[in-house]
Amino acid sequence: AIDALKGLRKGRLRVALVTTAKYFLPRMLGNFCRRYPDIDIELEVANRARIVERLRANEDDLYIMSFPPEELDVVARPFLDNPLVVIAPADYPLPAGPLTLADLVAHPFLLREAGSGTRRAIDRHLLKSGHALNVKLSLGSNEAIRDLVATGMGLAILSRHVLGENPAQGGIRILEVEGFPLRQPWSVVHLRQKILSLPARAFMDELLPALDGAPPAGA
Ligand code: PGA
Repeated sequence: AIDALKGLRKGRLRVALVTTAKYFLPRMLGNFCRRYPDIDIELEVANRARIVERLRANEDDLYIMSFPPEELDVVARPFLDNPLVVIAPADYPLPAGPLTLADLVAHPFLLREAGSGTRRAIDRHLLKSGHALNVKLSLGSNEAIRDLVATGMGLAILSRHVLGENPAQGGIRILEVEGFPLRQPWSVVHLRQKILSLPARAFMDELLPALDGAPPAGA
């Protein structure tokens, strides 16, 4: 199928992705754009709740998210691990050695907003483990949470992909906490009855083998 696409002159591709997924995208978009210079791409970045709305309304060609909605009839192909890690300011005083969630419940946490896939994974884990965190702040930006943690505001649970190659350089320490990282893959998703355009098929072919199972650097 890919050979037929080599002659592809013009096309348009709309991909909607959750906020955590935008950090890996430059790695594969560069290749895709070199291979298909005449396909114009529109990316929509939003939290999971908004991405699911777009999927339900069939607004885009493809979707990238961690938790394909169970209530919709979709095809979902996992392609890359998205580990969620517990982080602290680099100089934050904590007991030495591996921690448990119970050790952390008294500390202030900064978490993603309701509607975020990251928050959903965290809330599900807390429910299962029977712990409640002290959530001081909920907000809709991975970068803001990361930067606030670096300034000492509290702890957080974020996608490892948000932290870059060298978290310590940004004033962040990844904590060793029992049960973490929470692991779920991102999937590329579409409604089952959707007829995929040629650009959408080319994009999937680029995504799946290139990133299959590769962990983020330093995870
Ligand atoms: P989020 O989604 O950007 O809504 O937190 C994360 C995910 O689905 O992996």
